[in-house]
Amino acid sequence: MSSRSNPISDNWHGNDKTRLAVFVSGSGTNLQAIIDAVESGYVKAKISLVLSDNKEAYALERAKKAGIETFFLDPKAFSPKQNFDKEVIKNLKERDVELVVLAGYMRVLTSNFVQEYKGRIMNIHPALLPSFKGLNGVKDALDHGVKVTGPTVHFVTEKIDSGPIIAQAVVEVADNDTEDLLRERVQKEEHKIYPKAIKDFLENKLEIKGRKVFRK
Ligand code: GRF
Repeated sequence: MSSRSNPISDNWHGNDKTRLAVFVSGSGTNLQAIIDAVESGYVKAKISLVLSDNKEAYALERAKKAGIETFFLDPKAFSPKQNFDKEVIKNLKERDVELVVLAGYMRVLTSNFVQEYKGRIMNIHPALLPSFKGLNGVKDALDHGVKVTGPTVHFVTEKIDSGPIIAQAVVEVADNDTEDLLRERVQKEEHKIYPKAIKDFLENKLEIKGRKVFRK
């Protein structure tokens, strides 16, 4: 880990060597959006590592195609669960990772991990938090009959889907929407707001005060 323990309060600026780790479990469309943003120079950083708890995650293929180091850790090989995150932390430290980006990562982080990377872990959720937390954000919003929904990027705290909100986007729900159709439109917005949130963080534009995030 670099000496920059907390980029938000240390008046720290990202540069093209700022090291990101992206954690994935599935298809990796958000990972792809981040890779594209880095490759185009929109996000000035290096993705040092893509880590997955699922060997079959297509996101790993996307990372390999982009020449990014991939890392699969089998949760079954770790007991107690805390040991999994200890191994992850060790690998992040070895690579001097400064920002952890959760992109469809299905594991809940241990409090030890959250403390270690406090203020430096982001997540994206497919509903307008604090509504529809949990695993089925798109379906739950649709079933509830909301007229608008959309993704939320937030900092990760120990309470699931509850950390300070960085960005949200609004997606209208149509009368004849299906879960798949709605997810597609929500994800389209995810792919815009997640790279932007990362860019803002790296350019030191975000400030956390209590549970609010302000743009400087
Ligand atoms: C996204 O919809 C995100 O909101 C949720 O998991 C999904 C991941 O999709 N946390 P992908 O793997 O990035 O395509």
